[in-house]
Amino acid sequence: MIVSPRTSTATIKKIGRSGDERNLHDDRTSVLRMWAGLQSARRFVIGAPRRYDKCMAALSDRYDGPVVELRKIAADDLGPILEEETGDWRAALNWDFRPSADLVRRFVHMQALGGFAFMVNASQGSRLAGYSYYVCEEGKGLIGDLYMKREHRTPENETALLTAVLGAMWHTPGVRRIESQIMLLSSPMERTVPYPKWFRAHPREFLEVPLASILTLSPRALPAIRIAPWTEPWQEATARLIARSYQGHIDSLINDQYRSISGARRFLTNIVQYPGCGTFFGPASYAGTDIPGRELHGISLASLVASDIGHITQVCVAPSDRGTGLGYELVRQSLAALAAHGCRIVSLTVTAANESALSLYRSMGFVKRRDFAAYVWERR
Ligand SMILES: CC(C)(COP(=O)(O)OP(=O)(O)OC[C@H]1O[C@@H](n2cnc3c(N)ncnc32)[C@H](O)[C@@H]1OP(=O)(O)O)[C@@H](O)C(=O)NCCC(=O)NCCS
Repeated sequence: MIVSPRTSTATIKKIGRSGDERNLHDDRTSVLRMWAGLQSARRFVIGAPRRYDKCMAALSDRYDGPVVELRKIAADDLGPILEEETGDWRAALNWDFRPSADLVRRFVHMQALGGFAFMVNASQGSRLAGYSYYVCEEGKGLIGDLYMKREHRTPENETALLTAVLGAMWHTPGVRRIESQIMLLSSPMERTVPYPKWFRAHPREFLEVPLASILTLSPRALPAIRIAPWTEPWQEATARLIARSYQGHIDSLINDQYRSISGARRFLTNIVQYPGCGTFFGPASYAGTDIPGRELHGISLASLVASDIGHITQVCVAPSDRGTGLGYELVRQSLAALAAHGCRIVSLTVTAANESALSLYRSMGFVKRRDFAAYVWERR
């Protein structure tokens, strides 16, 4: 997502976590960070791109067909698409998309969102059928979302949008890598994509566990470990744990923030402070430490993606502690706390090739709700 220099003076005063009133008008990076994490079980923090206007102008000249810059679109015209998308997120993923839809509307209204809309019947009073937006920072681009209305959802139409956003990102100075996890893209693993030479797709699964299964899970004794609520002072140790846990891991191919402590820090800031993977829910987030509570061995972080739906945003256990039941117990405690809060379902996402995590989740009663894919383009 892009906030362009043309951002209007419209005031965005209260966006963010409930009860957290902040004037974000002067703080573009915060808005971007929050934005970047929107919608997804996707894990990124991306800030403001630089020198974007020139590239976009060039691109918009090139696209005189059904693909139009989002900045030329009236926010009200996006209404029907966002409404349908909100219904789809609820139906497909039990996810309340309304906060994300509101932000899309606001940023489109401010002409501050980098992306494209897909038009149908362009010659006779055009109608919007889909949209996609993106953000770029520090050599990396992220497709924030791509949604095509059901009646126009064909791989060809989606690819037209994908081609436009990728083209714009490749024209952003310095961008060499693009990541994306588009939850509602059709046939994510079977389609052809633009820039195939640089492309790699990783199958992922969206899993859910119902309350009835959560209630059957019994505690596991871990004599050398203390499990306590995860609080923000653990943030730095957690960033180090994440970087260590994902070393050489398939997920670090998908999200390059897992490859370094600084990347993991940004990832964490995103999930704790911004509502991208739902609203962070401290009471269901846990840290597994040694008995004195000094050394961090594992974490399970949780959020709410709807008033009655929980989500596990991160679970990891230090390599030397794996296979001892710590992952199970951390996740079990998060699930139990979410259930006690009134959640009837808890979801999470996992890479299909992550067999140890998948077998743990399956053994706890998680079942697959949807296949999707993580896409990565890396310019070589
Ligand atoms: C996935 C992950 C969190 C699992 O944590 P863990 O602490 O190793 O998990 P557990 O020990 O609870 O369970 C793992 C296995 O050990 C077994 N186990 C559990 N308690 C055990 C015990 N007391 N003795 C021996 N084995 C045990 C479990 O049955 C499970 O076996 P399975 O893989 O055949 O199902 C951990 O591997 C990890 O951090 N991976 C890297 C990050 C990651 O992939 N995170 C998940 C992203 S979606």
